[in-house]
Amino acid sequence: MKTVTIDARRASATVSSRSRFSSQSGTSEDATSARALRTVSVTVMTAIGAFGLVRASDSEMAESFEYAAYGAATPAFRALDPELAHDLGIAMLELGLGPRQRTRDSESLTVRAFGTTFANPIGLAAGFDKDARAFEALMKMGFGFVEIGSVTPQPQPGNPKPRAFRLIEHGAVINRYGFNSKGHESAKGRLAAYRAREDVPAGVLGVNLGKNKTTPEANAADDYVLGVDNIGEYGDYIVVNVSSPNTPGLRNLQGRKHLSGLLRKVLSARDRNPATAKKPVLVKIAPDLTDAEIKDVASVVKSEKVDGVIVSNTTVARPEEIKAHKHGDEAGGLSGKPLMESSTRVLHELYRLTGGKIPLVGCGGVASGEDAYAKIRAGATLVQLYTAFAFGGPPLILKIKRELEECLARDGFKSVEEAIGVAHRKR
Ligand SMILES: Cc1cc2nc3c(=O)[nH]c(=O)nc-3n(C[C@H](O)[C@H](O)[C@H](O)COP(=O)(O)O)c2cc1C
Repeated sequence: MKTVTIDARRASATVSSRSRFSSQSGTSEDATSARALRTVSVTVMTAIGAFGLVRASDSEMAESFEYAAYGAATPAFRALDPELAHDLGIAMLELGLGPRQRTRDSESLTVRAFGTTFANPIGLAAGFDKDARAFEALMKMGFGFVEIGSVTPQPQPGNPKPRAFRLIEHGAVINRYGFNSKGHESAKGRLAAYRAREDVPAGVLGVNLGKNKTTPEANAADDYVLGVDNIGEYGDYIVVNVSSPNTPGLRNLQGRKHLSGLLRKVLSARDRNPATAKKPVLVKIAPDLTDAEIKDVASVVKSEKVDGVIVSNTTVARPEEIKAHKHGDEAGGLSGKPLMESSTRVLHELYRLTGGKIPLVGCGGVASGEDAYAKIRAGATLVQLYTAFAFGGPPLILKIKRELEECLARDGFKSVEEAIGVAHRKR
């Protein structure tokens, strides 16, 4: 703060001396523009000073101010091309320019799953911070957990642009990024540096693994094993993503035979390395599975002793109202509101088939506390979102948590944990 004040004085002094010089030597136009420059400089410096003060403050008022400011800026991002807006957002967050939650989450939101405690059950889904550049700022923003990736072993560019489309009226996005990734080595540098620090924020970090496009389907397991070996140790949990629709053949890995072979290799790679031996491994599935395929997944995750399942990735289905949209027939995965129903249906079914014994992460279409609550009631221990956050910006995180607390209180639950899977039980 001190530095900013001194700089502001210096800047304004510099401007004053320049303006004196201009008016002595010349026209009244020079004097006017010098005055304008002085006003702008003082305003900018004051704004920076005020922002610095707010950043440093731990007060609740400072928190509200920051979230409101970021909320007000969010629509401006929507005026940009989706991928450009996203890259800009990540760059800002990487610089630490994100709002910071000062207030503590309510005790009722605490969740324990696979040996880890989450301050709240609302997480950021994979794909937002693909290269592990902004996860720290995202944790400080109030997510209970942030999942980086999908990271592929080797860097790869993904599909040609444009590859992301907003369907604003539907609260939806279609993307076909195709695992654009800077690769394990690049993510590893940042993750290792983070883990070496002591001043890191509370918050759980997930590492989501993908496969390179050029790796043949028959060798797919090798890419996930490499992921465990190279970057698994930096996550509080590891995700095997076999459900993105934008890597040819990837979703075939969800079939019974493929999936059990793949998971067996991944789990034994995890177990043989002391640095990863205690890390929970989750598998992320598609919302487009048939009932028979969901049964297969349930039986494999039970027999292979997978620690959890994320339900779900984006869908290749196109509901009627989406088909009618100008971007509705773009190839890729559909996310956001139109995905809520189908992904919750698969979640509900998987909870039933696994008897509620395996922690599930409900993902797909969550845009409110009521949506998060519906996932929890259907059987989710934790919830993730991506699309609604991209549209709503940081204030949405606090809003969802507040609304979720209200839903719990309304229905007489003291905690999230009490409400998990209640849709399956008679109360
Ligand atoms: C632009 C975009 C990129 C994504 N990239 C990934 C990814 O790399 N890995 C992954 O597992 N899921 C990825 N996803 C899927 C999300 O993690 C999430 O499962 C899906 O969007 C459903 O949640 P939502 O409706 O809240 O967006 C991506 C989603 C979007 C919209």
